[in-house]
Amino acid sequence: MITLGIVTISDRASRGVYDDKSGPAIREVYARWLTTPWQDEYRLVPDEQPAIEAALRELADEVGCPLIVTTGGTGPAPRDVTPEATMAVCDRILPGFGEQMRAVSLQSVPTAILSRQLAGSRGKSLIINLPGKPAAIEECLRAIWPAVPYCIELLGGPHLAFSDAAPRHHRPSSASSPQLSTP
Ligand code: MTE
Repeated sequence: MITLGIVTISDRASRGVYDDKSGPAIREVYARWLTTPWQDEYRLVPDEQPAIEAALRELADEVGCPLIVTTGGTGPAPRDVTPEATMAVCDRILPGFGEQMRAVSLQSVPTAILSRQLAGSRGKSLIINLPGKPAAIEECLRAIWPAVPYCIELLGGPHLAFSDAAPRHHRPSSASSPQLSTP
């Protein structure tokens, strides 16, 4: 059983002004795509950098999530600080994820350019930012999913299995099969 981190960052959802729709949308995508047994650890935090960092550190270091996906707080508004929090906790940034999500999203919405979403690694955890719009969730995850499973393996995480509903993922032919590799 793997545990996947889902972090919704929203002042209003965390105050109960409205329901979080984006966090559950991530869960719903996993339910369709993943055949590996999984559960999620969900956090709903306000747009405060220390609170976002604390959630990311806990999910990476204590819960040991191989994948942590955030939603919200990636725009240019003063309280949008998710990328800053992500940069602060990550050992390394993986710029291609943000570039690809913006490139694909720009084909459907011109304001996709406003998202500063990024991705990076903290230990064995891959952390990926998504925008806060529920409609952005599957679009962005689809855009990068082909590279996500191999990235998780390169970071030392588990081998994940998927249904036919998931975008086909790519593993270089030179990469050894996780089932055959010696520990
Ligand atoms: N990306 C996709 N795929 N779909 C969207 O609707 N909205 C954009 C952008 N990226 C959007 C998107 C808008 S309007 C903003 S302001 C930024 O994401 C930042 O959103 P956030 O602050 O909720 O993270």
